[in-house]
Amino acid sequence: MKNYRIALLAGDGIGPEITEQAVKILRFVERRNAVSFELMPVAFGAAAWFDTGQSFPDASRAVCDDADAILKGPVGLGVEASKKIPVDEQPERGAILPMRRRYDTFANFRPARLPAELAHFSPLRPEVVGDGIDFVIIRELVGGIYFGEKELGVNAKGLRYARETLDYDEFQIERIARVGFETAQARKKKLHSIHKSNVMKSSVLWREVIGEVARDFPEVEVEEVLVDAAATYLCLNPGQFDVLVMENLFGDILSDQAGGIIGSLGLMPSACIGPDKAYYEPSHGSAPDIAGKNIANPYSMIGSAAMMLEMSFGMKEEADNLWRAMQSVFADGYSTPDLSRPHAGITMVSTDEFGDRVIAALKNAEPTVKQT
Ligand code: NAD
Ligand code: IPM
Ligand code: MN
Repeated sequence: MKNYRIALLAGDGIGPEITEQAVKILRFVERRNAVSFELMPVAFGAAAWFDTGQSFPDASRAVCDDADAILKGPVGLGVEASKKIPVDEQPERGAILPMRRRYDTFANFRPARLPAELAHFSPLRPEVVGDGIDFVIIRELVGGIYFGEKELGVNAKGLRYARETLDYDEFQIERIARVGFETAQARKKKLHSIHKSNVMKSSVLWREVIGEVARDFPEVEVEEVLVDAAATYLCLNPGQFDVLVMENLFGDILSDQAGGIIGSLGLMPSACIGPDKAYYEPSHGSAPDIAGKNIANPYSMIGSAAMMLEMSFGMKEEADNLWRAMQSVFADGYSTPDLSRPHAGITMVSTDEFGDRVIAALKNAEPTVKQT
Protein backbone atom coordinates (compact mmCIF):
# COMPACT_ATOMS: atom_id res chain seq x y z
CA MET A 1 0.00 0.00 0.00
CA LYS A 2 1.26 3.48 -0.86
CA ASN A 3 1.94 5.74 2.14
CA TYR A 4 2.23 9.51 1.76
CA ARG A 5 3.61 11.79 4.45
CA ILE A 6 1.77 15.12 4.49
CA ALA A 7 2.84 18.09 6.61
CA LEU A 8 -0.39 19.71 7.75
CA LEU A 9 -0.29 23.43 8.54
CA ALA A 10 -3.74 24.47 9.79
CA GLY A 11 -2.81 28.16 10.05
CA ASP A 12 -4.71 31.07 11.57
CA GLY A 13 -8.24 32.51 11.47
CA ILE A 14 -10.48 30.22 9.41
CA GLY A 15 -7.46 27.98 8.71
CA PRO A 16 -8.22 25.28 11.33
CA GLU A 17 -11.95 25.15 10.40
CA ILE A 18 -11.38 24.60 6.69
CA THR A 19 -8.37 22.34 7.25
CA GLU A 20 -10.57 20.06 9.35
CA GLN A 21 -12.84 19.55 6.34
CA ALA A 22 -9.92 18.70 4.06
CA VAL A 23 -8.67 16.21 6.68
CA LYS A 24 -12.10 14.54 6.91
CA ILE A 25 -12.08 14.11 3.16
CA LEU A 26 -8.51 12.81 3.01
CA ARG A 27 -9.46 10.26 5.67
CA PHE A 28 -12.41 9.19 3.56
CA VAL A 29 -10.27 8.97 0.41
CA GLU A 30 -7.75 6.91 2.32
CA ARG A 31 -10.34 4.47 3.67
CA ARG A 32 -11.71 3.60 0.26
CA ASN A 33 -8.43 3.52 -1.70
CA ALA A 34 -5.26 1.54 -1.30
CA VAL A 35 -3.35 4.50 0.10
CA SER A 36 -2.55 5.87 3.52
CA PHE A 37 -1.86 9.45 4.48
CA GLU A 38 0.40 10.16 7.41
CA LEU A 39 -0.80 13.61 8.46
CA MET A 40 1.83 15.47 10.45
CA PRO A 41 0.43 18.61 12.15
CA VAL A 42 2.91 21.46 12.07
CA ALA A 43 2.91 24.86 13.82
CA PHE A 44 3.03 27.70 11.30
CA GLY A 45 1.81 31.29 11.21
CA ALA A 46 0.76 33.75 13.90
CA ALA A 47 -0.28 31.01 16.35
CA ALA A 48 3.20 29.48 16.01
CA TRP A 49 4.79 32.85 16.69
CA PHE A 50 2.84 33.30 19.93
CA ASP A 51 3.80 29.77 21.03
CA THR A 52 7.42 29.63 19.97
CA GLY A 53 8.56 33.10 18.93
CA GLN A 54 8.95 31.93 15.33
CA SER A 55 6.22 31.96 12.71
CA PHE A 56 7.95 29.17 10.74
CA PRO A 57 9.61 27.30 13.65
CA ASP A 58 12.74 25.21 13.05
CA ALA A 59 10.88 22.06 14.12
CA SER A 60 8.19 22.77 11.51
CA ARG A 61 10.82 23.23 8.81
CA ALA A 62 12.24 19.83 9.62
CA VAL A 63 8.83 18.14 9.26
CA CYS A 64 8.12 19.98 5.99
CA ASP A 65 11.57 19.05 4.64
CA ASP A 66 10.74 15.43 5.26
CA ALA A 67 7.18 15.40 3.90
CA ASP A 68 6.02 14.17 0.49
CA ALA A 69 3.76 17.21 0.26
CA ILE A 70 2.61 20.12 2.37
CA LEU A 71 -1.02 21.11 2.86
CA LYS A 72 -1.32 24.58 4.31
CA GLY A 73 -4.21 26.67 5.60
CA PRO A 74 -4.14 30.47 5.39
CA VAL A 75 -2.14 32.41 7.96
CA GLY A 76 -2.12 35.98 9.21
CA LEU A 77 -4.03 38.27 11.52
CA GLY A 78 -6.21 41.31 11.03
CA VAL A 79 -4.40 44.64 10.68
CA GLU A 80 -4.65 45.62 14.38
CA ALA A 81 -3.84 42.18 15.82
CA SER A 82 -0.81 41.94 13.51
CA LYS A 83 0.86 44.79 15.37
CA LYS A 84 1.58 42.43 18.28
CA ILE A 85 4.13 40.65 16.09
CA PRO A 86 7.34 42.35 14.88
CA VAL A 87 7.00 43.30 11.21
CA ASP A 88 9.56 40.83 9.86
CA GLU A 89 8.14 37.97 11.92
CA GLN A 90 4.53 38.50 10.83
CA PRO A 91 3.47 35.31 9.10
CA GLU A 92 3.39 36.78 5.60
CA ARG A 93 7.05 37.86 5.69
CA GLY A 94 8.18 35.47 8.42
CA ALA A 95 6.53 32.22 7.29
CA ILE A 96 4.94 32.23 3.81
CA LEU A 97 7.75 33.90 1.90
CA PRO A 98 10.44 31.80 3.63
CA MET A 99 8.43 28.65 2.80
CA ARG A 100 8.20 29.67 -0.87
CA ARG A 101 11.89 30.50 -0.98
CA ARG A 102 12.97 27.35 0.89
CA TYR A 103 11.19 25.03 -1.54
CA ASP A 104 11.63 27.27 -4.58
CA THR A 105 7.92 26.90 -5.35
CA PHE A 106 8.12 29.11 -8.42
CA ALA A 107 4.99 27.84 -10.20
CA ASN A 108 1.70 28.81 -8.58
CA PHE A 109 -1.46 27.42 -10.17
CA ARG A 110 -4.64 29.31 -9.26
CA PRO A 111 -7.64 27.84 -11.08
CA ALA A 112 -10.92 29.77 -11.30
CA ARG A 113 -13.87 27.63 -12.31
CA LEU A 114 -17.58 28.33 -12.39
CA PRO A 115 -19.89 26.15 -14.47
CA ALA A 116 -22.75 27.92 -16.28
CA GLU A 117 -25.36 26.35 -13.99
CA LEU A 118 -23.74 28.10 -11.01
CA ALA A 119 -23.67 31.50 -12.74
CA HIS A 120 -25.77 32.88 -9.88
CA PHE A 121 -22.67 32.70 -7.64
CA SER A 122 -20.99 35.34 -9.79
CA PRO A 123 -21.64 39.07 -9.40
CA LEU A 124 -21.45 39.20 -13.23
CA ARG A 125 -24.62 38.87 -15.25
CA PRO A 126 -25.45 35.33 -16.44
CA GLU A 127 -24.96 36.36 -20.07
CA VAL A 128 -21.42 37.48 -19.22
CA VAL A 129 -20.70 34.19 -17.48
CA GLY A 130 -22.03 32.57 -20.65
CA ASP A 131 -20.96 28.93 -20.98
CA GLY A 132 -19.11 29.17 -17.71
CA ILE A 133 -15.74 30.38 -16.46
CA ASP A 134 -12.74 28.09 -16.45
CA PHE A 135 -9.27 29.56 -16.48
CA VAL A 136 -6.05 29.11 -14.57
CA ILE A 137 -3.70 31.84 -13.49
CA ILE A 138 -0.09 30.73 -13.49
CA ARG A 139 1.73 33.06 -11.17
CA GLU A 140 5.50 33.26 -10.75
CA LEU A 141 5.87 32.86 -7.00
CA VAL A 142 9.47 33.31 -5.88
CA GLY A 143 10.71 36.39 -7.69
CA GLY A 144 9.91 40.00 -8.44
CA ILE A 145 9.24 42.72 -5.94
CA TYR A 146 8.30 40.26 -3.20
CA PHE A 147 11.84 38.97 -2.95
CA GLY A 148 13.91 42.02 -4.00
CA GLU A 149 15.91 44.15 -1.59
CA LYS A 150 13.81 46.38 0.62
CA GLU A 151 14.71 49.40 2.62
CA LEU A 152 12.98 51.89 4.90
CA GLY A 153 14.83 55.00 5.98
CA VAL A 154 15.19 58.77 6.03
CA ASN A 155 16.68 60.42 2.98
CA ALA A 156 19.04 63.40 2.61
CA LYS A 157 16.05 65.78 2.66
CA GLY A 158 14.99 64.36 6.02
CA LEU A 159 11.99 62.59 4.50
CA ARG A 160 11.03 59.04 5.35
CA TYR A 161 11.33 56.85 2.26
CA ALA A 162 10.83 53.24 1.25
CA ARG A 163 12.58 51.36 -1.53
CA GLU A 164 11.57 48.01 -3.01
CA THR A 165 13.50 46.33 -5.77
CA LEU A 166 12.04 44.26 -8.57
CA ASP A 167 14.46 41.76 -10.12
CA TYR A 168 13.85 39.07 -12.69
CA ASP A 169 16.44 37.25 -14.75
CA GLU A 170 15.82 35.24 -17.89
CA PHE A 171 16.07 31.91 -16.07
CA GLN A 172 13.26 32.87 -13.69
CA ILE A 173 11.04 34.04 -16.54
CA GLU A 174 11.82 31.13 -18.80
CA ARG A 175 10.89 28.47 -16.25
CA ILE A 176 7.50 29.99 -15.47
CA ALA A 177 6.91 30.65 -19.17
CA ARG A 178 7.49 26.94 -19.85
CA VAL A 179 4.93 26.01 -17.21
CA GLY A 180 2.49 28.39 -18.87
CA PHE A 181 3.08 26.96 -22.34
CA GLU A 182 2.97 23.35 -21.16
CA THR A 183 -0.31 24.00 -19.36
CA ALA A 184 -1.79 25.73 -22.41
CA GLN A 185 -0.57 22.90 -24.67
CA ALA A 186 -2.43 20.39 -22.48
CA ARG A 187 -5.63 22.51 -22.42
CA LYS A 188 -6.98 24.73 -25.20
CA LYS A 189 -3.62 25.78 -26.70
CA LYS A 190 -4.25 29.40 -25.89
CA LEU A 191 -1.99 31.41 -23.59
CA HIS A 192 -2.46 34.97 -22.38
CA SER A 193 0.82 36.57 -21.40
CA ILE A 194 0.12 39.39 -18.96
CA HIS A 195 2.66 42.18 -18.46
CA LYS A 196 3.23 45.92 -18.27
CA SER A 197 5.85 46.36 -20.99
CA ASN A 198 4.73 49.90 -21.76
CA VAL A 199 6.28 50.96 -18.44
CA MET A 200 8.33 48.22 -16.79
CA LYS A 201 11.72 46.98 -17.99
CA SER A 202 11.09 43.63 -16.33
CA SER A 203 8.09 43.27 -18.64
CA VAL A 204 10.22 44.10 -21.70
CA LEU A 205 12.45 41.17 -20.76
CA TRP A 206 9.34 39.08 -19.99
CA ARG A 207 8.02 39.62 -23.54
CA GLU A 208 11.37 38.73 -25.10
CA VAL A 209 11.62 35.49 -23.16
CA ILE A 210 7.97 34.55 -23.80
CA GLY A 211 8.67 35.04 -27.53
CA GLU A 212 11.70 32.74 -27.34
CA VAL A 213 9.91 29.98 -25.42
CA ALA A 214 6.95 30.26 -27.83
CA ARG A 215 9.16 28.79 -30.59
CA ASP A 216 9.14 25.47 -28.73
CA PHE A 217 5.33 25.46 -28.64
CA PRO A 218 4.20 26.23 -32.19
CA GLU A 219 0.67 24.99 -31.53
CA VAL A 220 0.05 27.42 -28.69
CA GLU A 221 -1.44 30.74 -29.68
CA VAL A 222 -0.10 33.57 -27.51
CA GLU A 223 -2.03 36.72 -26.82
CA GLU A 224 -0.34 39.54 -24.96
CA VAL A 225 -2.38 41.79 -22.71
CA LEU A 226 -1.26 44.67 -20.52
CA VAL A 227 -2.11 43.90 -16.91
CA ASP A 228 -4.43 46.88 -16.39
CA ALA A 229 -6.47 46.00 -19.47
CA ALA A 230 -6.48 42.34 -18.39
CA ALA A 231 -8.24 43.36 -15.16
CA THR A 232 -11.05 44.85 -17.24
CA TYR A 233 -11.31 42.00 -19.75
CA LEU A 234 -11.56 39.52 -16.87
CA CYS A 235 -14.79 41.27 -15.84
CA LEU A 236 -16.19 41.96 -19.29
CA ASN A 237 -15.49 38.64 -20.94
CA PRO A 238 -13.92 36.07 -18.59
CA GLY A 239 -14.82 33.25 -20.98
CA GLN A 240 -12.07 34.29 -23.41
CA PHE A 241 -9.36 33.23 -20.95
CA ASP A 242 -7.98 29.75 -20.48
CA VAL A 243 -4.37 29.97 -19.25
CA LEU A 244 -2.83 33.25 -18.08
CA VAL A 245 0.82 33.54 -17.12
CA MET A 246 2.27 36.49 -15.20
CA GLU A 247 4.84 37.68 -12.67
CA ASN A 248 4.38 37.50 -8.92
CA LEU A 249 2.62 40.73 -7.91
CA PHE A 250 0.32 40.81 -10.94
CA GLY A 251 -0.67 37.22 -10.16
CA ASP A 252 -1.43 38.07 -6.55
CA ILE A 253 -3.84 40.81 -7.56
CA LEU A 254 -5.52 39.20 -10.56
CA SER A 255 -6.06 35.90 -8.73
CA ASP A 256 -8.04 37.66 -5.99
CA GLN A 257 -9.99 39.39 -8.76
CA ALA A 258 -10.68 35.95 -10.21
CA GLY A 259 -12.16 34.97 -6.85
CA GLY A 260 -14.46 37.98 -7.05
CA ILE A 261 -15.53 37.12 -10.59
CA ILE A 262 -16.57 33.59 -9.68
CA GLY A 263 -18.28 34.78 -6.51
CA SER A 264 -15.97 34.19 -3.56
CA LEU A 265 -12.35 33.82 -2.56
CA GLY A 266 -13.58 30.66 -0.89
CA LEU A 267 -13.64 29.11 -4.38
CA MET A 268 -9.92 29.69 -4.97
CA PRO A 269 -7.55 26.79 -4.21
CA SER A 270 -3.91 26.77 -5.32
CA ALA A 271 -0.83 24.66 -5.87
CA CYS A 272 2.70 25.98 -5.35
CA ILE A 273 5.15 23.76 -7.20
CA GLY A 274 8.93 23.69 -6.92
CA PRO A 275 11.56 21.45 -8.49
CA ASP A 276 11.50 18.96 -5.58
CA LYS A 277 8.67 19.96 -3.28
CA ALA A 278 5.16 21.27 -3.58
CA TYR A 279 2.79 22.85 -1.16
CA TYR A 280 -0.94 23.46 -1.48
CA GLU A 281 -2.94 26.31 0.00
CA PRO A 282 -6.06 28.38 -0.63
CA SER A 283 -5.32 31.59 -2.55
CA HIS A 284 -7.09 33.64 0.09
CA GLY A 285 -6.17 34.73 3.59
CA SER A 286 -7.25 33.82 7.10
CA ALA A 287 -10.51 35.83 6.85
CA PRO A 288 -10.43 37.20 10.43
CA ASP A 289 -13.87 38.75 9.84
CA ILE A 290 -15.57 35.33 9.77
CA ALA A 291 -13.13 33.18 11.79
CA GLY A 292 -14.51 30.87 14.47
CA LYS A 293 -18.10 30.99 13.20
CA ASN A 294 -18.17 27.75 11.22
CA ILE A 295 -19.30 29.64 8.10
CA ALA A 296 -16.12 29.76 5.97
CA ASN A 297 -16.23 28.05 2.61
CA PRO A 298 -13.91 25.03 2.70
CA TYR A 299 -13.97 24.53 -1.12
CA SER A 300 -10.61 26.33 -1.47
CA MET A 301 -8.98 24.02 1.08
CA ILE A 302 -10.59 20.80 -0.16
CA GLY A 303 -9.70 21.92 -3.70
CA SER A 304 -6.09 22.45 -2.62
CA ALA A 305 -6.11 18.88 -1.26
CA ALA A 306 -7.53 17.70 -4.60
CA MET A 307 -4.67 19.47 -6.39
CA MET A 308 -2.25 17.68 -4.05
CA LEU A 309 -3.81 14.30 -4.84
CA GLU A 310 -3.39 14.97 -8.55
CA MET A 311 -0.10 16.83 -8.75
CA SER A 312 1.92 15.21 -5.95
CA PHE A 313 0.41 11.71 -5.72
CA GLY A 314 -0.79 11.07 -9.30
CA MET A 315 -4.39 10.44 -8.09
CA LYS A 316 -6.08 12.44 -10.84
CA GLU A 317 -9.28 10.42 -10.99
CA GLU A 318 -9.91 10.71 -7.27
CA ALA A 319 -9.13 14.43 -7.49
CA ASP A 320 -11.73 14.70 -10.26
CA ASN A 321 -14.20 12.83 -8.05
CA LEU A 322 -13.60 15.46 -5.39
CA TRP A 323 -14.21 18.38 -7.76
CA ARG A 324 -17.39 16.72 -8.99
CA ALA A 325 -18.58 16.03 -5.46
CA MET A 326 -18.14 19.68 -4.47
CA GLN A 327 -19.90 20.90 -7.61
CA SER A 328 -22.78 18.51 -6.94
CA VAL A 329 -23.27 19.94 -3.44
CA PHE A 330 -23.61 23.37 -5.06
CA ALA A 331 -25.82 22.03 -7.84
CA ASP A 332 -28.12 20.52 -5.18
CA GLY A 333 -28.66 24.06 -3.87
CA TYR A 334 -26.34 24.19 -0.84
CA SER A 335 -23.55 26.60 -0.11
CA THR A 336 -21.78 28.46 2.67
CA PRO A 337 -23.07 32.04 3.16
CA ASP A 338 -20.32 33.71 1.08
CA LEU A 339 -22.03 32.39 -2.08
CA SER A 340 -25.59 32.91 -1.08
CA ARG A 341 -26.96 35.77 -3.20
CA PRO A 342 -30.41 37.15 -2.45
CA HIS A 343 -33.23 35.30 -4.21
CA ALA A 344 -30.90 32.59 -5.52
CA GLY A 345 -32.81 29.92 -3.55
CA ILE A 346 -29.70 28.60 -1.87
CA THR A 347 -29.83 26.69 1.40
CA MET A 348 -27.03 27.93 3.59
CA VAL A 349 -24.86 25.32 5.27
CA SER A 350 -22.01 25.52 7.75
CA THR A 351 -18.36 24.75 7.01
CA ASP A 352 -18.79 21.37 8.68
CA GLU A 353 -21.97 20.47 6.87
CA PHE A 354 -20.44 21.37 3.53
CA GLY A 355 -17.62 18.93 4.27
CA ASP A 356 -20.12 16.21 5.26
CA ARG A 357 -22.12 16.75 2.10
CA VAL A 358 -18.99 16.45 -0.03
CA ILE A 359 -18.28 13.08 1.61
CA ALA A 360 -21.86 11.96 1.02
CA ALA A 361 -21.53 12.92 -2.67
CA LEU A 362 -18.17 11.14 -2.91
CA LYS A 363 -19.76 7.92 -1.73
CA ASN A 364 -21.46 7.72 -5.11
CA ALA A 365 -18.14 7.79 -6.97
CA GLU A 366 -15.94 4.72 -7.44
CA PRO A 367 -12.61 4.60 -5.57
CA THR A 368 -9.68 4.81 -7.94
CA VAL A 369 -6.66 3.21 -6.33
CA LYS A 370 -7.36 -0.51 -6.31
CA GLN A 371 -6.06 -2.86 -3.64
CA THR A 372 -3.20 -4.93 -5.08
P1 NAD B 1 -8.82 37.36 3.11
O1 NAD B 1 -8.54 36.63 1.87
O2 NAD B 1 -8.53 36.67 4.38
O3 NAD B 1 -10.34 37.83 3.14
C1 NAD B 1 -10.93 38.69 2.14
C2 NAD B 1 -12.45 38.49 2.15
O4 NAD B 1 -12.76 37.21 1.62
C3 NAD B 1 -13.06 38.53 3.54
O5 NAD B 1 -14.32 39.15 3.48
C4 NAD B 1 -13.22 37.06 3.91
O6 NAD B 1 -14.27 36.81 4.81
C5 NAD B 1 -13.50 36.43 2.54
N1 NAD B 1 -13.05 35.04 2.48
C6 NAD B 1 -11.78 34.60 2.32
N2 NAD B 1 -11.73 33.27 2.33
C7 NAD B 1 -13.00 32.83 2.50
C8 NAD B 1 -13.60 31.55 2.62
N3 NAD B 1 -12.87 30.42 2.54
N4 NAD B 1 -14.94 31.48 2.80
C9 NAD B 1 -15.69 32.59 2.86
N5 NAD B 1 -15.18 33.84 2.76
C10 NAD B 1 -13.84 33.97 2.60
O7 NAD B 1 -8.00 38.73 3.01
P2 NAD B 1 -7.61 39.80 4.14
O8 NAD B 1 -8.72 39.99 5.10
O9 NAD B 1 -7.06 40.94 3.39
O10 NAD B 1 -6.40 39.12 4.89
C11 NAD B 1 -6.48 38.49 6.17
C12 NAD B 1 -5.12 37.94 6.57
O11 NAD B 1 -4.76 36.83 5.72
C13 NAD B 1 -3.98 38.93 6.43
O12 NAD B 1 -3.14 38.74 7.54
C14 NAD B 1 -3.28 38.52 5.16
O13 NAD B 1 -1.94 38.89 5.11
C15 NAD B 1 -3.43 37.03 5.22
N6 NAD B 1 -3.30 36.31 3.94
C16 NAD B 1 -2.72 35.07 4.00
C17 NAD B 1 -2.64 34.29 2.84
C18 NAD B 1 -2.00 32.94 2.90
O14 NAD B 1 -1.86 32.37 3.96
N7 NAD B 1 -1.62 32.39 1.77
C19 NAD B 1 -3.19 34.78 1.66
C20 NAD B 1 -3.80 36.04 1.64
C21 NAD B 1 -3.86 36.81 2.81
C1 IPM C 1 -1.34 35.11 -1.49
C2 IPM C 1 -1.16 36.06 -0.34
C3 IPM C 1 0.33 36.22 -0.08
C4 IPM C 1 0.94 36.85 -1.32
C5 IPM C 1 0.74 37.04 1.16
C6 IPM C 1 -0.06 36.68 2.36
C7 IPM C 1 2.22 36.89 1.40
O1 IPM C 1 -1.80 37.27 -0.57
O2 IPM C 1 -0.88 33.95 -1.39
O3 IPM C 1 -1.95 35.51 -2.50
O4 IPM C 1 0.89 38.08 -1.47
O5 IPM C 1 1.47 36.11 -2.14
MN1 MN D 1 -3.01 37.30 -2.35
